[in-house]
Amino acid sequence: MIQLFHVYKRYPNGTDALVDLTLRVREGEFVFLTGPSGAGKSTLLRLLLVMERATEGQILIGGRNIHVLQEKSIPFLRRNIGIVFQDFRLIRTRTVFENIAISLEIMGMSGKEINRRVNQLLDGLRLNHRAGAYPGDLSAGEQQRVAIARALVNEPAILLADEPTGNLDPELGQEILQLLIEISRRGTTVIVATHDHGHIDRHGMRTLVLTRGQLSEDRPRQAVAAVRSSAVVPQSPVRATTPLPVTSAPNSEQDDDEVREVLDDTEELS
Ligand SMILES: Nc1ncnc2c1ncn2[C@@H]1O[C@H](COP(=O)(O)OP(=O)(O)OP(=O)(O)O)[C@@H](O)[C@H]1O
Ligand SMILES: [Mg+2]
Repeated sequence: MIQLFHVYKRYPNGTDALVDLTLRVREGEFVFLTGPSGAGKSTLLRLLLVMERATEGQILIGGRNIHVLQEKSIPFLRRNIGIVFQDFRLIRTRTVFENIAISLEIMGMSGKEINRRVNQLLDGLRLNHRAGAYPGDLSAGEQQRVAIARALVNEPAILLADEPTGNLDPELGQEILQLLIEISRRGTTVIVATHDHGHIDRHGMRTLVLTRGQLSEDRPRQAVAAVRSSAVVPQSPVRATTPLPVTSAPNSEQDDDEVREVLDDTEELS
């Protein structure tokens, strides 16, 4: 459960990005977050990830008040929250498998468990045949599916997506949204920030509308949503567990720099 009580965010330059925001998102719910550019959508997602702190108000995630969370507890919170961005943010010099596995490796998980989790996701997201490929060799839709797999590999309770379809053509965007809706059906809370009214109207899911930082509308989910279920997300129990060959990328300093940069991002995220 995510709860916000009278949340305000004012940036140092005086911009009021969020104004008196009070809302609640239940476990396993799927929610669109929309509103014009500058309305505060990304700011809200950043507050949930504690990448920024609210100026005033309380934010509770799973009953914990993250507004008063100590710095040292932030990584634990973030392990419970996956995030997906418009521009995928994959590590160019690492394979699909490695991109998905990286946060588990950092956590020191065993190779066997890493293989199990990554293969399960590759399976469910129809990416098995791309496991050894590099992001540059993937289509945009495939790259976004890898980014979703990376966000899910920690088995987070919450998945946030900031304009996840922004770089995709309408058909691929549709596929990615189906996938995100399917993920919420399996119990993950999913919040998708998007401008795209076509997607929002089509799915009939709950929609929070922000206008200049205020919640101007909270449209409930429609009773009969015209949702076609085409995407398939991994089922537990485990399926394929055959270890995949991990192809190492050429190691250069530039590579290391890039990895560090993306890790700083994903650290913030996962
Ligand atoms: N670091 C910052 N410093 C100052 N103002 C900021 C900062 N980040 C965002 N803002 C301002 O806060 C407001 C909300 O920005 P935010 O990025 O959350 O909007 P958004 O709804 O995600 O917009 P978009 O649809 O364009 O992504 C905007 O007026 C923006 O200019
Ligand atoms: Mg934004």
